[in-house]
Amino acid sequence: MSNMHNSRVRREVRIGVVGATGAVGTVTVQLLRERGYESLRLFASSRSAGKRIDGLAVEEATPETLAAGGLDVCLFSVGSSASRELVPHAVAGGAVAIDKSTAYRLQDGIPLVVPEVNGARALEHDGIVANPNCCAIPLTVALKPLHDAAGLARVRVATYQSASGAGARRMEQLRSTPSAEADLAMDWDFDGVEFEEEAKLRAETRKILELPDLPISATTVRVPVLIGHAEAVWVETAEPLSATDAHDLLEHADGVRLQEFPTPRAAAGRDEVLVGRVREDTAAENGLVLFVVADNLRKGAALNAIQIAELILERLAVGA
Ligand SMILES: NC(=O)c1ccc[n+]([C@@H]2O[C@H](COP(=O)([O-])OP(=O)(O)OC[C@H]3O[C@@H](n4cnc5c(N)ncnc54)[C@H](OP(=O)(O)O)[C@@H]3O)[C@@H](O)[C@H]2O)c1
Repeated sequence: MSNMHNSRVRREVRIGVVGATGAVGTVTVQLLRERGYESLRLFASSRSAGKRIDGLAVEEATPETLAAGGLDVCLFSVGSSASRELVPHAVAGGAVAIDKSTAYRLQDGIPLVVPEVNGARALEHDGIVANPNCCAIPLTVALKPLHDAAGLARVRVATYQSASGAGARRMEQLRSTPSAEADLAMDWDFDGVEFEEEAKLRAETRKILELPDLPISATTVRVPVLIGHAEAVWVETAEPLSATDAHDLLEHADGVRLQEFPTPRAAAGRDEVLVGRVREDTAAENGLVLFVVADNLRKGAALNAIQIAELILERLAVGA
């Protein structure tokens, strides 16, 4: 898409942000503005109707308002049950819905997209595209170039997830907790013997990478950090891949920025996935270890969804 075309699309495309008052929604509005989108409508629950954000009044997201049309793209960051209720109405109203909840991620026929990894899948949508979990996005961005070069045989992950991953209220709680009292948390529901978050990370990574049998296990932990999810990743590849070669591949990978010691603070406010500590794993054959960190509100949520929308808008502009 030419720059002129690009800026005209950004001025004219009508975008709805549903969940605009939340942790992800707030960042979504900020990023859309930064990228030059002018025609925005903001929605949240009845609790927020009439509130003003960025000079715009927040509307209550009801099935009727969303079904009434007038939106080209709808970016949803509400919980799964609200998404299940509202997304079909936005689609019926003519919008493409990009949903960040778990509601549609594993549904057959609904693309689950990370633009750098499987962007072409976004164009196969039938009205809904799902945005993956905030750890699955950076993980697949880092794994894809390694898989393309040497084939993934096994992946193990330990996460260190920030408070903002649990929403705006949890961010406020952390801000008001004295640092000496801050602690780790494991605040997810169980899915069998593991947390839902751990099961999601496995299922979503397999779907995005299109490796349905990839052996992958995770241990997820919430840490007292405001923004930025970190992941220690142990990878085994089918073919040998040296740490030097992995480093080179990651250096040129889309959406990755290599950093010696990536931290949540360094990742917060950045678009790229930071990857560092790339080294051989002496405990495994063909093993590598890396440390991956990303801003969970940006690449883990709002930015990834906007990038999906841009892939779809680009296709519409080319077809126009
Ligand atoms: N935080 C992350 O890092 C992250 C990353 C990836 C995906 N996600 C997903 O994104 C979604 C939102 O997460 P968040 O962290 O932004 O949560 P949050 O800070 O709690 O915000 C929730 C938003 O949803 C709105 N909402 C709740 N129920 C609604 C309803 N029935 N109708 C319309 N709007 C409703 C809230 O509006 P009110 O203010 O009016 O209550 C608020 O705007 C969740 O599905 C989450 O799993 C989050």
